[in-house]
Amino acid sequence: MKHLLTTKELSREEAELILDVTEQMAEAVTGREVPKLPALRGRTVVNLFFEDSTRTRTSFETAAKRLSADVVNFAAKTSSVNKGESLRDTALTLQAMGADAVVIRHPAAGAPQRLTEWIEGAVLNAGDGTHAHPTQALLDAYTMKKRLGGVEGRTVAIVGDILHSRVARSNVWLLSKLGAHVRLVGPPTLLPKDIDDWPVEIGYDLDASLKGVDAVMMLRVQRERQNAAFFPTANEYARLYGLDERRLALMPDHAIVMHPGPMNRGMEIAAAVADSPRATITEQVTNGVWVRMAVLYLLLTNGESK
Ligand code: CP
Repeated sequence: MKHLLTTKELSREEAELILDVTEQMAEAVTGREVPKLPALRGRTVVNLFFEDSTRTRTSFETAAKRLSADVVNFAAKTSSVNKGESLRDTALTLQAMGADAVVIRHPAAGAPQRLTEWIEGAVLNAGDGTHAHPTQALLDAYTMKKRLGGVEGRTVAIVGDILHSRVARSNVWLLSKLGAHVRLVGPPTLLPKDIDDWPVEIGYDLDASLKGVDAVMMLRVQRERQNAAFFPTANEYARLYGLDERRLALMPDHAIVMHPGPMNRGMEIAAAVADSPRATITEQVTNGVWVRMAVLYLLLTNGESK
């Protein structure tokens, strides 16, 4: 594995290896006075973000620092991209500065793949358009493993704006590869049309789709990617597809509530549900650091030093 671009191209063995190393990273660092490992000392990780991010950017930065790498944060908004510099020239500049790994978030699907053609270091996709967000799916799978005891055989409902969601796409491929049953639930206007070959069930009725789930993953309604009216009003959306306390009670007692963040409280998820003990939202953020440590470590060392 040289790059991490999508979960679709990961084998089950590779995904399981990442989740096993994630566990090792969490165990190695948790409770240490200095929560650092020397594994990536002398390596440089560049965070190249062309889109806003709170969790993913800081999580990759924390992960790289915990592995003792040097970290360069590149924000497109304050760079020469604003003067017209291309992605290729930006990438070559970072390469000339000795980047061993580039973590890229870009609004265009396929931008991380293009980057692999121009630079020698590892490329890690931190979200490209509506295409893929592999480390989010890996941290979601790890969270299920920790909370539910595993992924194999579990039923996961992914709810809401599937059409615009790279998180949903990455989870569909990863969770199904790991043996989970995936249900996609949302209004017909927010379900992609070309999903006949996706390994999922489709539902339009959220109440019915919550029965028998082990996890429900609520997706943010991505207004910024919507160039048409996909539903009449925010209130109507919340009434039909929002997870509130009444709907939480329809789920089995052990079932967990996930959200990749950022959340629209009161729209896809009620505040009382987001703050309930059954929600794993902050745990997902914590687990994201372990997952990104595992991925950086595996890509940059081939698993050969720790
Ligand atoms: N979940 C996620 O990708 O969050 P950010 O956009 O804050 O990185």
